[in-house]
Amino acid sequence: MRQEDILNLLAEHQLSTSTLDFLDQIKFKRYDRESRDKFNLISYINSNPKLQKRIHEACYDVGFCPTFSLPSVLHPSAAFVALNKLNKRRKSSRVFAPEPLTLQDISGFLQLFYTLTGCEIVNFKGTEITKYSRNIASGGALYPTEIYLINHRIQELPFGAYRYNVVDFTLELIKPLETKESMNEFYEVIMKTSTAAIDFEQTSAFVVFSSVLNKHSFKYKDFGVVLSLIEIGEFVHAAYLAGAALELGCCAFGGVLSNQLNQLLELKSKLHQPFLCMAIGNLKKTEE
Ligand SMILES: Cc1cc2nc3c(=O)[nH]c(=O)nc-3n(C[C@H](O)[C@H](O)[C@H](O)COP(=O)(O)O)c2cc1C
Repeated sequence: MRQEDILNLLAEHQLSTSTLDFLDQIKFKRYDRESRDKFNLISYINSNPKLQKRIHEACYDVGFCPTFSLPSVLHPSAAFVALNKLNKRRKSSRVFAPEPLTLQDISGFLQLFYTLTGCEIVNFKGTEITKYSRNIASGGALYPTEIYLINHRIQELPFGAYRYNVVDFTLELIKPLETKESMNEFYEVIMKTSTAAIDFEQTSAFVVFSSVLNKHSFKYKDFGVVLSLIEIGEFVHAAYLAGAALELGCCAFGGVLSNQLNQLLELKSKLHQPFLCMAIGNLKKTEE
């Protein structure tokens, strides 16, 4: 590899035109909202009892084959018991109590959700490298996922869009959303309506799961997108488990205008793509 290729390696994406088209194709666009094509299909499926029965009762069937029962763990460790309890508690909550979360609550949530687990300095062929390990695994240790937090109702923090800095454990204010107009801009992005399934009004904060797609693709080319999206899934699950541990209500949602969110968060590149959001709030008593 030539020297100039090496210098460009980290900066350039290696995605094919068809993958770039695919990434554009899967975004929700403003006109999807107006034409309601995608949303009509979703609401039709959501409101059709026959389809719902088939969805919920569907089981993958391999046909006839020998089957073996799995034994229970005889002496479960404390960690086993704790994870088992968390798994049982994990669920999506779409309604929240009017009392907003505190800064302490959201801080605890972020710590359990995405955190450093260690830092070591290694010598790799004569080069000293500081390596941070994290609770989330990442293909090639490239960590393309960037987490943003929209403070909607937490009183001790200015309302606005923040980047979560996992290394320093801080929130970096990217854009204040202190006025009604600026918050309305965010509502546009999440397509907030009074009939939405999730209670956006009482949501204390929104987590935005975004990915810097060229981070994986510069090394793994098109397959890098698979790794990046898998990583987003890991983050979503970690957020659900953190919510379960702290008994907070949370629900992921995908109906987000991606390009507008990219602009609102002032992301530096078009390949830094927001994929998903999660609404978080205090559990409503009936949801507990
Ligand atoms: C990636 C992802 C996207 C989701 N998007 C939505 C959504 O747009 N709206 C919604 O009400 N729920 C959404 N959910 C929540 C699912 O509907 C929920 O996980 C599923 O019904 C199972 O329920 P449970 O999480 O309580 O086990 C999403 C969940 C995931 C993991």
